[in-house]
Amino acid sequence: MYGIVNKSIEELVVANYGQEKWEDIKVKSNINIEYFISSESYDDDITFTLAGTIATELGVTVDEVLSLFGEWWILHTGKNHYGYLLESGGDNFKTFLLNLPSFHNRVMMMYPKLTPPEFKISEVEDNSLHLHYFSKRIGLTAFVYGLMSGLGKFFNTQVTTDHVESLSGQSTHEILKVSWEN
Ligand code: HEM
Repeated sequence: MYGIVNKSIEELVVANYGQEKWEDIKVKSNINIEYFISSESYDDDITFTLAGTIATELGVTVDEVLSLFGEWWILHTGKNHYGYLLESGGDNFKTFLLNLPSFHNRVMMMYPKLTPPEFKISEVEDNSLHLHYFSKRIGLTAFVYGLMSGLGKFFNTQVTTDHVESLSGQSTHEILKVSWEN
């Protein structure tokens, strides 16, 4: 994944637990990289290893770390560095989700070697929809839960995400029911 992802994880750890904790997590993850460069590609293993070490250090599950990171990604990295991109996705939670399938096309203009997630939308109601999440990677569904929660906070909207179905195949396909209150 692009370095921006690992950099954002670093910022999350430093902001909440301090620089020393981050250095400790890097050592325990066997990562000898001093600084992550946002626009450089790194092996996905680095990101997954970091998530695993953070989970062990904090005594929580990897899914809890990924969910926390999803919120952080929207409310810190997204809001502070890509506010214009988030705004271009819509001015309320529902519109943003309806536009989500094309969101990473715009991200790819900045990060051309992206291996993006794919989203599809179905069962659209006034206050809920089904979000289909396709990924070439395994194990990031909890990240999507955190992203939904972060977007809810970003748009001041009460959001609930429930699991509907996991479909296996060539890629991961998860169906989530996302509900909100106006
Ligand atoms: C704020 C602007 C955003 C930027 C700049 C951005 C950028 C990225 C980058 C660089 C990656 C790593 C993929 C790679 O390097 O190959 C990624 C992955 C991902 N992004 Fe975004 N993203 C943004 C917003 C969002 C939003 C709003 C969502 C969904 C609500 C989302 C969902 C995901 C998911 C689920 C992945 C994991 C990739 C996978 O499943 O394989 N992102 N994004």
